[in-house]
Amino acid sequence: MNEKVLIGVAWPYANSPFHLGHLAGAYIPPDILARYHRMRGDQVLMVSGSDTHGTPVTLAAEQQGVSPSAIVGKYHQSFIDSLLGLGISFDLFTHTDTENHWRVTTDVFGRLLANGYIYKDTMQAFYDVQAKRFLADRYVEGICPFCGFSGARGDQCDACGKPLDALQLIEPHSKLTGSVPEIRDTEHFFLDLAQFNEPLKQWVSGKTYWRPSVLNFTLNMLNEGLHARAISRDIDWGIPVPVAGYEHKRIYVWFDAVIGYLSASIEWAALQGEPDAWRLWWDPKSAGRSYNFIGKDNIFFHTLIWPAILMGYGGLKLPYDVPANEFLTLEGKKLSSSRNWAVWAPDYLSRYDPDPLRYCLTVGAPETSDMDFTWQSFFDHNNNELVGTWGNLANRMLTFCYRNFEQHVPIPGELEPADNEIINLVEGSFDEIGMEIDQCHFRSALVKVMALTREVNRYLDAAAPWKEIKVNRERTATVCYVTLRVVDSLKTLFLPFLPFSSQALHRMLGYEDDLFGIQQVSEFAESTRSHLGLTYQGNQNGDRWVPSTLKPGQALREPKPLFRKLDAEIVAQEISRLGKPAD
Ligand code: MF3
Ligand code: ZN
Repeated sequence: MNEKVLIGVAWPYANSPFHLGHLAGAYIPPDILARYHRMRGDQVLMVSGSDTHGTPVTLAAEQQGVSPSAIVGKYHQSFIDSLLGLGISFDLFTHTDTENHWRVTTDVFGRLLANGYIYKDTMQAFYDVQAKRFLADRYVEGICPFCGFSGARGDQCDACGKPLDALQLIEPHSKLTGSVPEIRDTEHFFLDLAQFNEPLKQWVSGKTYWRPSVLNFTLNMLNEGLHARAISRDIDWGIPVPVAGYEHKRIYVWFDAVIGYLSASIEWAALQGEPDAWRLWWDPKSAGRSYNFIGKDNIFFHTLIWPAILMGYGGLKLPYDVPANEFLTLEGKKLSSSRNWAVWAPDYLSRYDPDPLRYCLTVGAPETSDMDFTWQSFFDHNNNELVGTWGNLANRMLTFCYRNFEQHVPIPGELEPADNEIINLVEGSFDEIGMEIDQCHFRSALVKVMALTREVNRYLDAAAPWKEIKVNRERTATVCYVTLRVVDSLKTLFLPFLPFSSQALHRMLGYEDDLFGIQQVSEFAESTRSHLGLTYQGNQNGDRWVPSTLKPGQALREPKPLFRKLDAEIVAQEISRLGKPAD
């Protein structure tokens, strides 16, 4: 193996904490892929960071009456806490307000300008006469010309996902004053996407393995034909346009955000003390795949704009797959931050463990259609599958061996056909389940692991060691050994999905080591700023995606329940929290 796997994850706007929609859409899935590849001994570089620019951040700052950098600081810290709490193993989670990111973005802009892919032109834009300001992107709202949605914003329609030019909005009004804006001329820089239409078509034609929704959306846009898009704005928050006389304008947030995949890789390499190491993941000649994990509202920017920027820059690898997820709904309704119809990650983590959420959001992942999260399903998955099926299997066997076999893995006698059958079933499934994860079919991979767990429970119920021990200690020892061995294998199969409980189980089974490296909050100094980030200190000890290596006679550690049983009352309690003003 030893593939270089680059996993770029959508950069969350630093204007609110994470909610379940973010986690299901773009944060839990890449962690499953990253952990799987790390276990295979592949070299993973998983990066992202806070998206600190643009009108989403300035609007939040204005609403909360603080500066944009105060907003960024607050939510960046919140993201780091949630990512740590959920075990999302970023090699680097940084943000876009670093010197490194500004330099890389400026360089990319400059090269595309020099190569003739960026040009300057006069355009019309909305101007709020009362506020004496141009109204960039989200400062204008109106009706979507494509689908008629009335809350469409000047940059994109959230209902149909189409990117918009604010001037296309029907009945536009200013978010600042509510007034109808007037149209004025302004000069901006444009990314000439039309030049990339054919090369992108060529590139996309090889992507037959993409999710159908991602492929169709992308092909439709290409068949309609791409047009130049403005990539600068009349605002004062963001990266200055690096052209003499235009420094008071700012680079469009989306142009700089996608460049974050590259700049974060460069920052990571510098932090390792190997400033050129990032090239191993980005050189088109080096083997290995690169991914972008995003929600479906970000498809346009990742299958068209970012690849176009990469083509225009030259010498960098394009994404292999962009496994965008559909949306998560909550108790049958669309998530809404403003109406607080959301489950916020910090709030969740204050009451529950991370693995049950990772489990629910993966078996109910919106991979091919929108999916609904309900607290009833959370409760059921936790109590029936995690506690009842998996936790119960592991715990009853460990406790039994701990009590009856002097805290050791029993030494088996001769194996019977039923023993070999269950061993072969579980140990023979590593390739198939690994393949599913490799292809980003996380949902079906996890469903298959849980189905195997049910089979093991059936085996154990039939063999009934708690009865057998009264009549045949040797046969009991064999059954217990076999069960612990397949439990050890299940631990590995569950690992990419449920890292906390698998690690706990690993220790109870008597192993000394940690299955994964550590994550830590680090402070990075730059010449004029310092900033916080989340880093993962990997441990690559060869191929761990292998069946049990449990030794008969291995000493066990005291078993503790892998999962907590939840009280049925939480369902009503959690539902009653929804839709109320926060705090
Ligand atoms: N900030 C955007 C959002 O939250 C996502 C940006 S993804 C990036 O929707 F890659 F472009 F950064
Ligand atoms: Zn629309």
